[in-house]
Formats: sequence, structure tokens, C-alpha cells
Amino acid sequence: MLIAIEGLDGSGKTTQARLLVEHLRQEGKDVLLVEEPGATPVGREIRRLLLEHGGEIEPLAELLLYEASRAQLVRRVVRPALAAGKIVIADRFALSSVAYQGYGRGLPLELVLQLNAIATGGLEPELTILLDIPPEEGLRRKARPAGRALDRLEGAGLEFLRRAHEGYLKAVPPPPTGQVLDARASSEELHRQVVALVAASLRA
Ligand code: TYD
Repeated sequence: MLIAIEGLDGSGKTTQARLLVEHLRQEGKDVLLVEEPGATPVGREIRRLLLEHGGEIEPLAELLLYEASRAQLVRRVVRPALAAGKIVIADRFALSSVAYQGYGRGLPLELVLQLNAIATGGLEPELTILLDIPPEEGLRRKARPAGRALDRLEGAGLEFLRRAHEGYLKAVPPPPTGQVLDARASSEELHRQVVALVAASLRA
């Protein structure tokens, strides 16, 4: 079973993915946590290119790099783990590209969906949990001391995140495959909700 945890930066998804993995392991389940981009040596190089490269990357080039990382991850790590009967928890998956590169950067959705399908070979999560956070709140949690106003660049970033946020809400699959949780809840409360959704999905 493949479970994707999605959300804007600052939504707490990495914390929740880790808590979920610990919880499932305590239940004796065989679980693998993967993060995108990254999780393979090639993926980590691509992640470095994407996140640390100083120059501008064209939106199309950016999309193709995320998809290259995804293709590597699915073939080298995710499929073998699923075949071995593991539960795979993905800290981001294909829906991130729809939200960020499709809605955020404005690339044609049809193109993003096509490339997602090619990169994943059609593999889709049985459950996608979207940790929903207002973009302003996500930014605040990520980067800044409380109370300081956004500067111009952060403001441009905010517009991008607003589009990605809207994209997430539009593109998340309907329940039970897709589930939206309010990420402003405490980490403990959110964890309880995540565990309940995963338990229901494992029973189904
Ligand atoms: P992530 O590792 O979740 O962020 P963090 O370092 O805060 O844990 O994701 C890194 C960035 O990559 C994030 O800003 C979202 C972006 N991203 C995309 O734009 N498209 C994608 O397909 C993926 C997987 C990530």
C-alpha cells in the first residue's frame, strides 16, 4: 500500500509522515518512508539542483527534473518495496507537481498529468492525505519571526503558494482516496487524525 502525505511547505507533513511511520512500526508493520525529491542518490542530486541552484530554472525544466527524480524513485525504491509487501509512506508524490508546477508555475495541467503518469508508470497512492494550511500561515511557520511583514520577494512567493494551495484543494482526489485535514491543529491532534485515516484505509 502506498500512502502520500501532501501539503504546502510549513504544513508539518514531514513531521506527520515520520510520526505515522513510527506508529505503524510499533504496530509491527513493515514500513518504508520516502521523500520527494530525493530518496535515491540520483534523486538527491536532482534535489540539490532544484533547491540549491542559484540561477533561474525554467518551469518546464523544473517539472522534468521533479519527474526524473520521481521516475527513479518509483522504479528503484517504491515498486520493489510494494512488491515485498511493505507499506510505503511518501512525503510528497505526484500531486505536488500538479499543485506547484501546474497551478503554481502555470504549466498546462494536461502536461503535468501526462508526465506524472509516465514517471509513476500509472502507480497511484491508495490514500493521499493533504495537510491543508493557509499559505500565509505556512510561510510564517517556515521562515520568519512572528509579526514581521512580508517583504517583496516573500510576497511574490506568497502569490505562488496561494496558487499551489488552490491547486492542491482542486486536484486532491475525492474521499476516501483523498483526505484533507486542517493542518492548524496541534501536531498530536493531527497525528491522531492521520492514524485514523490510515487505519480505515488499511481495513478497506
Ligand atoms: P520538501 O522536501 O517537502 O520541502 P522541505 O525541504 O521544506 O521539507 O519539498 C521541497 C520543495 O520542492 C517544496 O518547495 C515543494 C517542491 N516540489 C515541487 O515544486 N514539485 C514537486 O513535484 C515536488 C515533489 C516538490
